[in-house]
Amino acid sequence: MTDPARVTLEDDDESTSVRVYDDEGDVSTGDATFRFSVDGGTGGDSSGEGTDAAAGKSGAADGADSRRIAPLADVPTDGTLRCEARRDRRGTELILRRAGDEVSAWRNSCPHKPEVRIDPGPGAIVRDDQLVCHEHGARFECDDGVCTMGPCRGDALDSIAVTVRDGTVYLTDDRFDSCRLLGE
Ligand code: FES
Repeated sequence: MTDPARVTLEDDDESTSVRVYDDEGDVSTGDATFRFSVDGGTGGDSSGEGTDAAAGKSGAADGADSRRIAPLADVPTDGTLRCEARRDRRGTELILRRAGDEVSAWRNSCPHKPEVRIDPGPGAIVRDDQLVCHEHGARFECDDGVCTMGPCRGDALDSIAVTVRDGTVYLTDDRFDSCRLLGE
């Protein structure tokens, strides 16, 4: 399978959104599990909703540089850079934003509606040092990712661990093995 399936699953308490590079598998969050098979049709015991498929590119970087994301200078201050973090055959879309020599990263998913990307492709909206969800206007602090205004006020973006070393940004979050940049 070359194009991944993008799966978003929600229950009352949790949600998750991943790309799956496989013909079959399952995604779980809370008590809900969605099982799928591309050749055999979809099905499952899910109480969740909101599945969709989107085309993408397959393949993760190998070797010692598999956690390298981008040069620090390529991470914008007035927008965000998208990348995909991988573990096994699952990918999670991330966004990065720079403030001086520091970089913050979050899962590219709005707490209000997890299937909505904060950065839909050309970079997230940044206003007054806050990220703005293009869908309903929720605003998130660029340090801790907490929503200060909008329908998910008090919730926070899922923070992802990254570090800057010798002018390059690396993924350090233990939940993932590798990463790659995404195009618009
Ligand atoms: S989907 Fe982001 S504020 Fe509603």
